[in-house]
Amino acid sequence: MTRQRPATAFAVLVKSSAERLAAALQSLFDAAQRAANRGDSPALNQQNSRIKQYAADPMSTSCTLSSLTWTDALTLNQPQIDQTHQEFVVLLNQLGNSLHHLDSALPIYQRLLTHTEQHFAMEEGFMAATGFAPDNCHSKQHAMVLDVMRQVLVHTHAEHDLEPMRNLLLELVNWFPAHAEMMDAALVFHMEQVGFDPATGAVSKAAMADAETISSCGSKACS
Ligand SMILES: [Fe+2]
Ligand SMILES: [Fe+2]
Repeated sequence: MTRQRPATAFAVLVKSSAERLAAALQSLFDAAQRAANRGDSPALNQQNSRIKQYAADPMSTSCTLSSLTWTDALTLNQPQIDQTHQEFVVLLNQLGNSLHHLDSALPIYQRLLTHTEQHFAMEEGFMAATGFAPDNCHSKQHAMVLDVMRQVLVHTHAEHDLEPMRNLLLELVNWFPAHAEMMDAALVFHMEQVGFDPATGAVSKAAMADAETISSCGSKACS
């Protein structure tokens, strides 16, 4: 019986993770398209063609976006989340500029992973405080992204191979705008609806009394 070399096994793992992420992106695209058709968010149209292209073929070398520019379309008007997202974009771009060498890439990647763990934990804290079920689809997507990021870190340390990190950077650059405009935007909208104050953790009791536990991302387009 032949054993797969670790690098080969990992390539298969990353490809299947990329395909799962692409499937999630495809459903996000479909939801975004429905929302854009209803006129909910004209800015979504700007991202849709990129998302559709990526979802069709996540390993495509024709989709070579490896940096992200902060634009008003990414602003959600929630100070903590906007600040965190701007930091995330800066770290993504720093990673893109460091991928020529292992010694420069690894420390930035570790910073990006730590920041992303804190980023997602903050949003999940907001969800927990405002009536989301622990296994809602927004949190599941966070978990999937962190799972792939951690696998790539382990692989890079073990194999000194930056290729999966380069592939993952492309995935994150393409994934983040859709995630922010759908799932994070829905969270911010919900926080406003229930009168949630992140500084104090207080919510409007009247709004929360009517709320049901939320298993979706909180958006009507994500159901
Ligand atoms: Fe976010
Ligand atoms: Fe999120």
